[in-house]
Amino acid sequence: MSLRRTCLSLVTAGAVASALLAGGAPAAGAATDSGTKTLKQLAKPTGVRVGTAVDTSLLGTDATYTSAVAAQFNTVTPENVMKWEVVEPERGKLDFTQADKLVAFAKAHNQKVRGHTLVWHSQLPAWLSDGLADGTIGKAEAKRILKQHIATEMGHFKGDIWAWDVVNEAFNEDGTLRDSPWLRAIGPDYIADAFRWAHKADPKAILFYNDYNTEGINAKSDAAYKLIKELRSENVPVEGFGVQGHLSTDYGLPNDMQANLHRFAKLGLKTAVTEADVRITLPANPAEVQAQSNGYSYMLQSCLLEHSCISFTFWGFTDKYSWVPNTFPGEGQANIYDENYQPKPAYEAVQRDLQLAKGIKKH
Ligand code: XIL
Repeated sequence: MSLRRTCLSLVTAGAVASALLAGGAPAAGAATDSGTKTLKQLAKPTGVRVGTAVDTSLLGTDATYTSAVAAQFNTVTPENVMKWEVVEPERGKLDFTQADKLVAFAKAHNQKVRGHTLVWHSQLPAWLSDGLADGTIGKAEAKRILKQHIATEMGHFKGDIWAWDVVNEAFNEDGTLRDSPWLRAIGPDYIADAFRWAHKADPKAILFYNDYNTEGINAKSDAAYKLIKELRSENVPVEGFGVQGHLSTDYGLPNDMQANLHRFAKLGLKTAVTEADVRITLPANPAEVQAQSNGYSYMLQSCLLEHSCISFTFWGFTDKYSWVPNTFPGEGQANIYDENYQPKPAYEAVQRDLQLAKGIKKH
């Protein structure tokens, strides 16, 4: 684990880092105003928005879930309902019902919306993935379909979306381009095309490239950096770099997350943590629960300390509903509240970091 190195590098990052770390955890039972404020109240003075992925089927059906989304966060991301398979299950039949519900909820609660996601290899409707796979949708048609998808979906939500994850997960771990249906059908230019089309569709939304395992400096984030640098030199409107932040206590932490975000900032980009969770191989032991708390804290501190980082979004907030057990069998308990909505040590760490960062004037 690189936790010790992590802490040292944050300490040397300057006065703000010292303030963040020096506070430590309040003694049990000690009165702190962080104990009574919600995450979004604590986040407000930091200039970083705190968000969560939202399962829209729970809004209005799980009262605790619904009131926590409203109370704790000032940005929301649809966990699934802006994905292509949901918005166009049959070719030409558009369905924005669930996504509209989230946008209305966000408006009612003064929250921003991160749009997620327009161009991805996953969760495509069958008509599209089959057509791309068997060649009945060729290159020219694939381009037309993708352009139309971006124009239609972004057009539908125009003015309501703060930031869009335009392209999601385009790279492999070794830095080569993922063998996605889009790469196969269109070639590597699909990425530049997507950002150009997106900018036309909603010039005010911040256009993000988003990926996982890109928190630290490694072959994958290097490749994203190189491509984005190239694209920006050609005036392609890539405006944000999102690191998903899906960590596991089995793998430790990168020790250079802030430096990684900062190199993208130097290209002129905003940055964000877009899908934070820290999963544990079950059953969880106390050391893992502590490591999870450190993982959240490390990612949040990296964002708070990096001027370009505009938001920190949790990929869900309660262990009651999480994608982790379905995707990583044997793993779970990845969120900051347990399944009974009780705050875990990770929640307290997040509270404390936000509280201690209140002096940061970022934006
Ligand atoms: C996940 C959702 O949480 C699940 O409900 C769904 O079944 C699969 O997708 N990276 C992303 C997210 O960009 O869209 C994924 O969300 C998690 C990984």
